[in-house]
Amino acid sequence: MRVLVTGGAGFLGSHLCDALLAEGHSVVCADNLLTGRMANLEHLLDEARFEFVELDVCRGFDVGKVEYVFHFASPASPVDYLHHGIETLQVGSVGTLNCLELARKHHARFLLASTSECYGDPKEHPQKESYWGHVNPVGPRSVYDEAKRFAEAATMAYHRTHHVDTRIVRIFNTYGPRLQINDGRVISNFMKQALRGEPLTVYGDGLQTRSFCFVSDEIEGILALSRVSEHLPVNIGNPREFTVLECAQMVLQVTGSESTVVFEPLPVDDPKQRKPDITKARTLLGWEPKIELRRGLELSLEYFRGAVASRDW
Ligand SMILES: NC(=O)c1ccc[n+]([C@@H]2O[C@H](COP(=O)([O-])OP(=O)(O)OC[C@H]3O[C@@H](n4cnc5c(N)ncnc54)[C@H](O)[C@@H]3O)[C@@H](O)[C@H]2O)c1
Repeated sequence: MRVLVTGGAGFLGSHLCDALLAEGHSVVCADNLLTGRMANLEHLLDEARFEFVELDVCRGFDVGKVEYVFHFASPASPVDYLHHGIETLQVGSVGTLNCLELARKHHARFLLASTSECYGDPKEHPQKESYWGHVNPVGPRSVYDEAKRFAEAATMAYHRTHHVDTRIVRIFNTYGPRLQINDGRVISNFMKQALRGEPLTVYGDGLQTRSFCFVSDEIEGILALSRVSEHLPVNIGNPREFTVLECAQMVLQVTGSESTVVFEPLPVDDPKQRKPDITKARTLLGWEPKIELRRGLELSLEYFRGAVASRDW
């Protein structure tokens, strides 16, 4: 197949490009480099089946006939979407409509990278796909949460109205090599601070929980979903829960760092608990995450060491 990956210069998009190429497909990667980096794609630039196009999906575009559109373009970390609030709203709305229109035009299948943020600060735990969420529509995170909720609605509308063959993955916290080191997320913050010998910053009392999925597990789940005919959202994430404090301890062990832990006030609307119910993915896809947090951190260590040492950041 010739497939389009929007946001392919980003963390997940670049791993998805790798996986699709490994399966033998030709990949067109479209990215405006707002939060992505060419460094994530350097190893692919000589690959004959790989094409990079610098473009903004919010503007009308066409990359020629494609059979699958994987729409991953969007700032994804709190730091990025708080900084690029309007761009986040645009890419989730106009950008998603443009990508859906492209899929309709080429009779291509379509997969939307959505997010656990659609559940907001959830009142139901763990979160099943049937839960409608608890989102503050005017809080600082709303630019991302509401953009993604709009993107899901747009995807379902194109499916219902134009019969586009769509899928929606709700991605939960994913980490691994190529994760932006300055993205403000728990793992990148802790790895950076531990490797620099700085204190690890814990917001609140650190007893809030998070679940973390290693990138290879996440991509496997997304590809499995791309092959089945399920149009309603499917959670892909690792249900194993850790408190933020436990995660800090594990990062200290894996890095061998002697950093201390400091506590700071909890940011506005920071979710207290987030854990996917992956029954649907297990049943529908036979998918299950395999990489434990400690192993995933070990597999990411070399990348984080390099990133901390580099002057790019
Ligand atoms: N990483 C996670 O844990 C996570 C969790 C939930 C959902 N997601 C979703 O997965 C997708 C990828 O996330 P990521 O972590 O790789 O983020 P990322 O910031 O590394 O990648 C996003 C990419 O989209 C590109 N982009 C942004 N706006 C664009 C536009 N208008 N036109 C073209 N390209 C544009 C950026 O330049 C970047 O390369 C996002 O849609 C995000 O919402 C990620």
